[in-house]
Amino acid sequence: MIVLHEPSELRAACDRARANGHRVGFVPTMGALHDGHLALVAAARRASFVVVSIFGNPTQFGPREDLARYPRTLEADCARCADAGVDVVFAPPGEAMYVAGEETRVHVGEVATALCGAHRPGHFEGVCTVVAKLFTLVGPSLAVFGRKDYQQFRVIERMVRDLCLPVELVGLSTVREADGLALSSRNRYLSQDERARALGLARGLSLAVAAFEAGERNAGRLRGLALGEVTRVATSVDYVTVADADTVVPLDDRDTIPARTLVAVAARLGATRLIDNVVLGEDPAPLEARA
Ligand code: PAF
Repeated sequence: MIVLHEPSELRAACDRARANGHRVGFVPTMGALHDGHLALVAAARRASFVVVSIFGNPTQFGPREDLARYPRTLEADCARCADAGVDVVFAPPGEAMYVAGEETRVHVGEVATALCGAHRPGHFEGVCTVVAKLFTLVGPSLAVFGRKDYQQFRVIERMVRDLCLPVELVGLSTVREADGLALSSRNRYLSQDERARALGLARGLSLAVAAFEAGERNAGRLRGLALGEVTRVATSVDYVTVADADTVVPLDDRDTIPARTLVAVAARLGATRLIDNVVLGEDPAPLEARA
């Protein structure tokens, strides 16, 4: 495995791999890798040459968000990548991805307006801008993302379609701790008490899945089940939303939900913002989906 820092080196390495007949698989990350990321790498190994990027992208963080304290663990991340059979880790400095005087951004549409889009202005524009740059440098046949960031996956899917980017996207199910908590780089910020309370997110979503499986189809009642549990444990709640699973447009509480419907949650435990979700009709209840 090689570790590269310069965009030109990355492009040359991927060009060489393609010239040698490889398909390139790509996993973009912000580092602090956990088993969820390793599941993405395992899926990317469907391609014969695998690139992982590690870059804390400043344009997707708001001025009062946690970019400065986002965990940076490059050495450990590289060791995990090497063990997982990655060919290239790309860890650029900020100025290599955002050259002096840069001003171009990817504009995002309605799929990015609700949920995290409503609570993190500019977030998805920043995500799409950096992902588009990385796709251009890597030229992957296949790129793998986690569906814990469900809206992010749908926003990137829309960008790939709208900009005719020649890459197959794969969205992987959320990987969870043995007790059901969704894996996240931010879990390491949680105190013991916050860690225990954070399980309320998975519990709330599990209540919605159980009700759905028992026949409940009213959006408001399903939302209320998740919201009740999340409100009980969280320091504050950004949203508990029932939405169309493809467009991520929120449903009205009076709506009867379709066969596949997203229930998504964002809440703070202390200062740490966590997200989680299930697609009713598709995902098992998080508390049953234990390893
Ligand atoms: O999901 C993430 O870790 C980031 O949003 C991504 C896709 C690497 C872009 O910075």
